[in-house]
Amino acid sequence: MEKLIGSKKIRTAVFISGTGSNLEKLIKFSLKKVSPIKVSLIISSNAKAKGLKYSKLYRIKKKIYNYNRRKISEKKTLKELESNSIKLICLAGFMKILSGDFIKKFKGKILNIHPSLLPKYKGLKTHERVIKNKEKYSGCTVHLVNSKLDSGKIILQKKVKLSKKETPKSLQRKILKYEHKLYSRAIDKIFANP
Ligand code: GRF
Repeated sequence: MEKLIGSKKIRTAVFISGTGSNLEKLIKFSLKKVSPIKVSLIISSNAKAKGLKYSKLYRIKKKIYNYNRRKISEKKTLKELESNSIKLICLAGFMKILSGDFIKKFKGKILNIHPSLLPKYKGLKTHERVIKNKEKYSGCTVHLVNSKLDSGKIILQKKVKLSKKETPKSLQRKILKYEHKLYSRAIDKIFANP
């Protein structure tokens, strides 16, 4: 990550598939003077993603690639990243799995946010599984992306206590609030002490 540091903000692409609440928090963070990043591109795997509205709202370029044909979509994505001088990728609710080849090309420069205390509960339906297993705590994690699902180096985590009456929905809402703070904190952590 050290190589990304310079006098200018790091041009960042955020990848989404849905609501994009983490995207909006990242955009707001990036608009702060002290922020090390600038959100310069939004990539969505879903043409109907609600989060695409932030492209218009904050005047940020967007591209939609459906990722059903991953090889072609990744090729187009890479081209777009290059032509926009993107140096950092933040996955934020991006529901597609990137290939090992793609990840290698951006080695150490892709971050993801996951709604569990990794390495526990990788993959989907985390909140349901956490509740089923009667866990007392869950949380969220920002980590570097490597070729194994939800397995790269952990940058920051936030532990969250479950209430007695917790449901998957209430837990999702509770954790999402912490996610919104954690992503920018993790970015600050990476770039504050190169
Ligand atoms: C978040 O819970 C994130 O951890 C997970 O997908 C959700 C995306 O939410 N990967 P949003 O689209 O940022 O609102």
